[in-house]
Amino acid sequence: MQTRRLSSRLCGLGVAVSAIAVLTGAVWTAAVPAAHAATAQCPWMDATQSPDQRAGELVGAMTLDQKLSMLHSAEPDMLAYYGTAGHVAAIPGLCVPDLVLNDAGAGVGDGQVNATAFPAGIAQAASWDPNVQQQFGAGLGWEAWHKGINVMLAPGVNIDRVPMNGRNFEYASEDPYLAGQTGAAVIRGIQSQNVIATVKHLAANNQETNRMTVSADVDERTLHEIYLPAFETAVKQGKAGAVMCSYNQLNSVYACENPALLTDVLKKEFGFSGFVMSDWGATHSTVAAANAGLDMEMAGSNNGQYFGDALKTAVINGQVSMARLNDMVTRIVRSAFADGLFDHPAAAEPDGFAAVVNTPAEATLARTIAEQGTVLLKNKDGLLPLDGQGKKIALIGQAAGAAGAEQAYGGGGSSHVPLAGAVPVVSPQQGITQRGAANGDTVVYADGTSVADAVAAAKAADVAIVYANDSEAEGTDRTNLGLNYGTCSLVACAQFPVSQDQLIGAVAEANPNTIVVLNTGGPVRMPWLGQVESVVEAWYPGQEDGNAAAAVLFGDVNPSGKLPETFPVSENDLPTQTTAQYPGVNGHASYSEGLRVGYRWYDSQNIAPLFPFGHGLSYTTFSYSGLRVSRTASGASVTLTITNTGTRAGAEVAQVYLAAPAAAGEPPKQLKAYQKVFLNPGQARSVTVPVDSRAFAQWDTTKHTWLITPGTYQVLVGSSSRDIRAQSSLTMAAKTLAP
Ligand code: BGC
Repeated sequence: MQTRRLSSRLCGLGVAVSAIAVLTGAVWTAAVPAAHAATAQCPWMDATQSPDQRAGELVGAMTLDQKLSMLHSAEPDMLAYYGTAGHVAAIPGLCVPDLVLNDAGAGVGDGQVNATAFPAGIAQAASWDPNVQQQFGAGLGWEAWHKGINVMLAPGVNIDRVPMNGRNFEYASEDPYLAGQTGAAVIRGIQSQNVIATVKHLAANNQETNRMTVSADVDERTLHEIYLPAFETAVKQGKAGAVMCSYNQLNSVYACENPALLTDVLKKEFGFSGFVMSDWGATHSTVAAANAGLDMEMAGSNNGQYFGDALKTAVINGQVSMARLNDMVTRIVRSAFADGLFDHPAAAEPDGFAAVVNTPAEATLARTIAEQGTVLLKNKDGLLPLDGQGKKIALIGQAAGAAGAEQAYGGGGSSHVPLAGAVPVVSPQQGITQRGAANGDTVVYADGTSVADAVAAAKAADVAIVYANDSEAEGTDRTNLGLNYGTCSLVACAQFPVSQDQLIGAVAEANPNTIVVLNTGGPVRMPWLGQVESVVEAWYPGQEDGNAAAAVLFGDVNPSGKLPETFPVSENDLPTQTTAQYPGVNGHASYSEGLRVGYRWYDSQNIAPLFPFGHGLSYTTFSYSGLRVSRTASGASVTLTITNTGTRAGAEVAQVYLAAPAAAGEPPKQLKAYQKVFLNPGQARSVTVPVDSRAFAQWDTTKHTWLITPGTYQVLVGSSSRDIRAQSSLTMAAKTLAP
């Protein structure tokens, strides 16, 4: 297997390489491939041609069996294959490289070792910074490529419809615009490294309860306005090479055999020219799936069950046309050409698998993302940052200690990045103790399994920092939004004297200067909120956990993250009020809340959230002035000036929401643009953000296209969805836009 994979890569080299070591048995020998030899044997290796031309030439040279071999995984057990999730075999004679597919959005995971554990998707999104997100994607792609992986199964952009969804930590937001922009930035980064990005999971894969079977019943307008735009942006703006269709059914048809979704919307309406792969085991048929638009079957076992011999038979007997089969293969190799897989082959195995890619530079990137994604939720009386000298700090909670941090740095499931390898998680205890020492502070740690010890430590300290966490994972939803017992699997849950909520309450009673740091994948209830001074949401922060937290707590980094998801007061306030909506009854989840998802719901029902969408404090203050809105050929242009009115350098995310005229039937306001601005104390900057015509349009279910309802659109600019600082308006004429 090793020799086969290497030989394909040598053939695939489009540039002259002086000498490459080839593993034959246990012996390394040298081979000298030449670009012209590859081009003579495989004319499509001529990189001056377009990906379309190259794909056409290659597919024209393939036999039926070679074509079919591209459409499914080759190995019976993928994790045994160098610890990757999937593998489409190379065709050395045609210079086709192996496709090595692997998870995912918080680092190179599955069975890989020595890779960097980055912050979770929700933390990346909370930075609201496409530059940071693109750098993350590039770091992720770089690590993958050096490990011999050339198809990354990331990013995930499903909408956080219900905060209980066990995979929300992997996704970006409850808002389609923020999710789309985040996903596109990550994709640009991944694909800059000669690795295909796979945006997932199309579509409406918004719960883990019954995820393999549940039908998301979503009306056409809601689909287009809420659940599909992030995929559209990932495809149109991010140019994702691959899309993964999801496990669930969409309106009673499995996503991976849903022609309305895969062909009519994704391929025709969005103009997607890459390939659709199924989630692992999400293919349910041969003819229906192939004709609906699925291009590649992926599964953990029974590889090629539907797209192997069964597809060959279907092609021979005409149930699937040769044209469609050619289209499937063309889409796969076109993305591989476009994203550099043929011209810049990824590292070969076994040296790829053995590569150590968690370098110091990658750790720095992980730390930057964690710092930028951290959200300061509350900071009464400016307790944070912890400046001043010689303080006694009580650090409390399991997630702050070494063993707990090893649980709380990431979520569970396929996105999990194992810590096998050289770099351990920097625990908050380590990071805060070390940083505190520079201020002459002393840190006493209590894990909280004894409330008496925790309270005693808090009483004896100037400041108490309590860590609390939840443990979200693929495959199950949270049953409620309580913090409950956090990492209690470390110590049998029964041994825990009190819940984390009770622990925080007891500490806050013992010390008026109590700070709570949360390692959660999404919103949690905070019954103790009124008792504590400060709350920091650090999400699942990756391996640089303690360093990033210390940087924010001590003010080396001024927090600038904003919530990508509303934090409700309690489950009673959620947009999904009935079991018919969530988790569904008789196999159907009714998306009857329609467009009113996330803050759109809280705004339309006048429900005050605990912390609103877009919220996030800073150690400095910002003012908004000079808002001007003008019409442009492509929509509108919004200009405003943001001034840092405080005494520390910091960043603000200016958020632009539109409120459509009542006749449009939209929720009260919707995010349509944003810009993160870094400012020194006293510095002012004029910011201009474009808002395209689509931002003003509604999906029309009669004409099946976008229409701008005529009337006056309010333009609301603010620091969060509930902190609008400036307002203007624009009158729009009726207009039909191409879908
Ligand atoms: C997950 C995908 C993942 C795939 C491969 C599935 O269970 O839903 O997100 O990419 O496994 O590991």
